[in-house]
Amino acid sequence: MSDQLYTMLAVLAALAAGLWAWRRFHYPSFWLVIGFPIIAITIRATWRKVALGCGLTKKRQRFWFTTVPGLVASTGVVRVRRKWQRIAVDTKPFMWLPLPARHGWRVTLHTLEGQIPADYAEVAERLAHSWGVHAVRVSSDKPGRVRLAATVHDPLVKVDELPPSTELLKVTVGRLETGTPWVIDFRTVPHWLNAGATQSGKSNLANALIVGLAPQPVALIGFDLKGGVEFTPYAPRLSALATSRAECGGLLEDLVALMTDRMGVCRMAGARNIWQLPPTMRPVPIVVLVDELAELYLMADKSEKDEIAKTSTALLRVAQLGRAFGIYLFCCGQRIGSDLGPGVTALRAQCSGRICHRVNDPETATMTLGDLDPAALDSARTIAAETPGVAIVAGQDGQWYRARSFYVTEQTAERAARTYAHLAPPWSEVVTAQPIETPDQQTA
Ligand SMILES: Nc1ncnc2c1ncn2[C@@H]1O[C@H](COP(=O)(O)OP(=O)(O)OP(=O)(O)O)[C@@H](O)[C@H]1O
Ligand SMILES: [Mg+2]
Repeated sequence: MSDQLYTMLAVLAALAAGLWAWRRFHYPSFWLVIGFPIIAITIRATWRKVALGCGLTKKRQRFWFTTVPGLVASTGVVRVRRKWQRIAVDTKPFMWLPLPARHGWRVTLHTLEGQIPADYAEVAERLAHSWGVHAVRVSSDKPGRVRLAATVHDPLVKVDELPPSTELLKVTVGRLETGTPWVIDFRTVPHWLNAGATQSGKSNLANALIVGLAPQPVALIGFDLKGGVEFTPYAPRLSALATSRAECGGLLEDLVALMTDRMGVCRMAGARNIWQLPPTMRPVPIVVLVDELAELYLMADKSEKDEIAKTSTALLRVAQLGRAFGIYLFCCGQRIGSDLGPGVTALRAQCSGRICHRVNDPETATMTLGDLDPAALDSARTIAAETPGVAIVAGQDGQWYRARSFYVTEQTAERAARTYAHLAPPWSEVVTAQPIETPDQQTA
């Protein structure tokens, strides 16, 4: 008897060790074969309780059968006196079978009458706690259907490097929480706002862009209002660098003049934008990186008013018309609030790409992410200081995502800037509108 017990214990111990090793050394297959089926069954089995707890059920009249008259019904609503009785029952939204996803699982629900996806988004945090997962995201691709995507662990704690993008003006800068690459594509979303508190990862993202754009046939311009400490090391790859408001003003004037030139070229060639021009006539695209945007707008005394107004108008013109003429903005700042003046608000309206790193005050998140889903703002406020580089990203598709940039040190960006220094067209050449040859496969 005791021999049998020992054998059983040994088998159990071996099984436990095997499972542990499987989970440790090949988590994806362990998750698919063991972890996910157990979770899927649990989710289905407990859905009534969870939906009830999160307020997602509706009362419906149903015939209820009981073999013990007088018993309190399971819903606790009505005392049953007859065997068949019509009573109000809490109905849960219909749930399809959960499906495994890269970092968790997803499931589709049928909404009940009067429900909208926002009702589910509102209780996403409650659902996440009920299911013991990191986060639940709500989306809806069809009326009457809601898709819940649960991530079991935060996929952004550690992000692995991805292969760089080879397309013009497209840079893979990090990873989205869905596991897909986080791509900044200036041709789809031409202007970006990148906000965040100090040490939240703004410059790291700018470094990632420099590394990604350096090998491409584009001109890079730096507006470094931190007195040049951020971008001066990248000067070899920059076609121009401005480190004060006066210098930025000068460069912006050049850019506006350049834009007018390009407008003329496009008009003559009958093109709506530089991408419709024949490759031999196409001027070089320009990406303008701005660090500490607020410095452009801060006024110490009245004498600066005119200068600020001029710079702000020029920047706004670049933002409004730049897209068609190959001039793209990437503006970083700690605060991008309307208190900086109407120029900032107008510029913000032109920047459809929004990135909000960790912020100190809720207003900055609201200013940056605008009137996106309130859940995006909540998510921005909960970014931890221990995870710099994590941000909420909103792009052209109207969706928002949590994402994390790859860690790109200043040294890496400096090295890229030196390696590709020969690709930096001199500013004098750029402003004289020298057309460059762009490979045909890079045209849209
Ligand atoms: N994606 C990332 N992964 C890991 N660490 C990061 C990441 N991004 C930033 N960091 C770390 O956070 C530090 C601060 O980042 P960064 O200099 O980009 O902040 P910042 O927002 O530009 O701050 P400031 O406003 O002071 O310029 C970096 O030195 C780096 O160590
Ligand atoms: Mg910085």
